[in-house]
Amino acid sequence: DSEVKNICCIGAGYVGGPTMAVIADNCPSLKVNVVDINEERIKKWNEKDFDRLPIYEPGLAEIIKRCRNKNLFFSIDIKKHIESADMIFLSVNTPIKKSGLGKGQASDLKYIESSTREIAKYAKGETIIVEKSTLPVRTAETIKSILESNDKSFNNQKFSVLSNPEFLAEGTAINDLENPDRVLIGGENPEAITALEEIYVNWVDKNKILKTNLWSSELSKLVANAFLAQRISSINSISAICETTGADINEVSRAIGMDTRIGEKFLNAGPGYGGSCFKKDILNLVYLSKYYGLNEVASYWQKVVDLNVWQQHRIRKIIVKKLFNNLTSKKIGIMGFSFKANTNDTRESPAIQICKDLIEEGADLRIYDPKVNKFQIEKDLEQNQFNDNGEGSWTLCKSIKDIAIDADAIVIATEWEEFKSLDWSDISRLMRSPKWLFDTRGITNSKDIKQHNINYWKIGLGDSSSNIKFNF
Ligand code: NAI
Repeated sequence: DSEVKNICCIGAGYVGGPTMAVIADNCPSLKVNVVDINEERIKKWNEKDFDRLPIYEPGLAEIIKRCRNKNLFFSIDIKKHIESADMIFLSVNTPIKKSGLGKGQASDLKYIESSTREIAKYAKGETIIVEKSTLPVRTAETIKSILESNDKSFNNQKFSVLSNPEFLAEGTAINDLENPDRVLIGGENPEAITALEEIYVNWVDKNKILKTNLWSSELSKLVANAFLAQRISSINSISAICETTGADINEVSRAIGMDTRIGEKFLNAGPGYGGSCFKKDILNLVYLSKYYGLNEVASYWQKVVDLNVWQQHRIRKIIVKKLFNNLTSKKIGIMGFSFKANTNDTRESPAIQICKDLIEEGADLRIYDPKVNKFQIEKDLEQNQFNDNGEGSWTLCKSIKDIAIDADAIVIATEWEEFKSLDWSDISRLMRSPKWLFDTRGITNSKDIKQHNINYWKIGLGDSSSNIKFNF
């Protein structure tokens, strides 16, 4: 009987947690065990207080409430759940290598390798291994050789490896998982492919399930992220032109987005993309291209990353310059710390670099974020809260009002919904003159802000009345 009854997911992170929650919710007859080596994280997934789950995603807590300890379990007993699984998802992290060959570019596959070794050791009978993590092309080969090197033919051990990359975006993970644009399954063994497909058809239209060979599937994930990041870098490059020429990036985005060939999505300028994936996945593509001797391809994609780094630096410089190049003891409010709205994830968040720079310049930061906690910010800024050594400091505040009191400037660093409809007259009254607002996300309206006596800088907004001439 090849029917899948027990699933194990190795890695209870931003992908493993939400993905397994949605599978459990849609497949009541399946038993889903999510395991992790991180005890703290598993403890949080089992928290009674649903506000304290390790990951915030709209709609996630509701699903956990419905399924946890019914057909969805979080555990550190990796051995036990590998043993009982018919299908095992690998959702471990695949960061960039910090040292050795490919340092700074190649994927570090040590977590994939160690979890694969665990599978080789403990799995029983026929087991389907599903790559959920984003992996370099041909990783399935490595996984297979590790699995096959462990001779367990005596107890009918058989492995099949599938690639099933995850396209969810943080902040909209549950909706993306419930209504995916497509589900991609790469593999060779038709029975294994069907087994995975049968899980998805419980809630996904069959014609949205795409089947490819293993390598196309692995590569498609890297390419999807490269294209998305490329759009951000493209629009950010244009934001700089807008600022110097008097054009407005919102108007330009709208004008080009109405061209159906271009499309309107992913055309918002900002402080540079963040998140754990874009940079690492493009660098991985760059590494792969170089590895195969395709140097032009490598440098083409490398530019997408370079532009992003440039954009982040550019914005930091603007803030410092506008505040008279002197931030010593100035109070600056930071609105938002996560890398984008609706997530508590701060990995590669542009806010981190902005804050570090302002602190280095001697500013006293008041940070407000609806979901990011103090410990995370401490880790990211590499210094404790209230560490006031006279050379810049930061404090986490509970409200926007708290960050506005006596502030010389406010920086909007994340596009949280609640920042879009603030009462700027109230905020202005609390601030110290001359007041500044730096909107790095382009979510506020210039007229609205200026009428409250606040100096204003917004990403991609040039001064259309300025008389800068272009000399041919
Ligand atoms: P994460 O860091 O949040 O979670 C990974 C988890 O795996 C950690 O909790 C870690 O403790 C655990 N782990 C590592 N080695 C283990 C082992 N040997 N045994 C048991 N647990 C182990 O990472 P995240 O964000 O969930 O990403 C996972 C993968 O999914 C990465 O390859 C990433 O590129 C990919 N991905 C991430 C997306 C995102 O938005 N975060 C979206 C799509 C793909």
